[in-house]
Amino acid sequence: MRLKDKIALVTGAGGGIGSVTAKLFAQEGAMVILSDISEEGCKKVLKEIVGKGGKADMVLADVTKEQDIINMFNFVKEKYKRLDILANIAGGDFENNVGVTDITYERMSYNIDANLKSCILCCREAAKIMTEQQYGKIVNMASLVHRGSPMQFTYSAAKGGVFAITRSLAMALGMFNINVNSIGPALIEVDIIKNTLGPEMWEALKEDTASRYPLGRVGQPIDVAYCALFLASDEASFITGQLIEVSGGSRL
Ligand SMILES: NC(=O)c1ccc[n+]([C@@H]2O[C@H](COP(=O)([O-])OP(=O)(O)OC[C@H]3O[C@@H](n4cnc5c(N)ncnc54)[C@H](O)[C@@H]3O)[C@@H](O)[C@H]2O)c1
Repeated sequence: MRLKDKIALVTGAGGGIGSVTAKLFAQEGAMVILSDISEEGCKKVLKEIVGKGGKADMVLADVTKEQDIINMFNFVKEKYKRLDILANIAGGDFENNVGVTDITYERMSYNIDANLKSCILCCREAAKIMTEQQYGKIVNMASLVHRGSPMQFTYSAAKGGVFAITRSLAMALGMFNINVNSIGPALIEVDIIKNTLGPEMWEALKEDTASRYPLGRVGQPIDVAYCALFLASDEASFITGQLIEVSGGSRL
């Protein structure tokens, strides 16, 4: 077991990538604290993990709210006394396919709040615990569009920021034995995208996208989860400040 008895907090744990990552961490022996804005999503994953003999707990938080984040970390500290792994997975694109002249202040702000400020604040709170215990692994969910995207202006800016803060934190926290890395997935097959597009548009997008990726398929949540598992494990203890693109070779 690669995460035996580690205490891991996973945000966005009710979602496509977060739920699979949380289940994989539990399968590898971690005590996983599931967090999401969605109670239903968290409860479903908690039930699955516990049903398979794994260890899990949950704490609800809206990561666009600073006080929710503080409360979430207080919950972890008071109940578990330590935090070995933080996987910042909550997020999403709330201004997808919007032209540059149609960017709205509200959607832009939400994208930056949900994807970037949330990541910075969760890292800040995790650092308070991890520096004290002189151990920690932080995995931040960026995106392949950290490189830029003409269809995802504010989201790509936020995810580019996630990579930048990952590097800055890696520089500052290395001396405390804390690794900070990020993942940049390309298109990953999750319900939120499929449901938003509908079956026909999804199949067309999937086929078109797959044909442009060298590996000939879009990603699955487990592809990202395995990368998160590696970065959260001690196998990655000499890796920090990196962004690993889980992208089927896209945009090489
Ligand atoms: N699916 C992809 O193609 C893809 C590609 C690159 C990056 N990502 C990133 O991966 C992460 C997971 O996305 P996903 O594809 O699994 O989507 P998802 O919508 O299934 O998962 C996102 C989860 O985050 C939660 N969430 C959203 N806003 C929140 C908030 N304010 N507070 C707390 N929780 C909140 C949602 O309830 C959901 O459970 C996101 O950060 C996303 O930007 C996804």
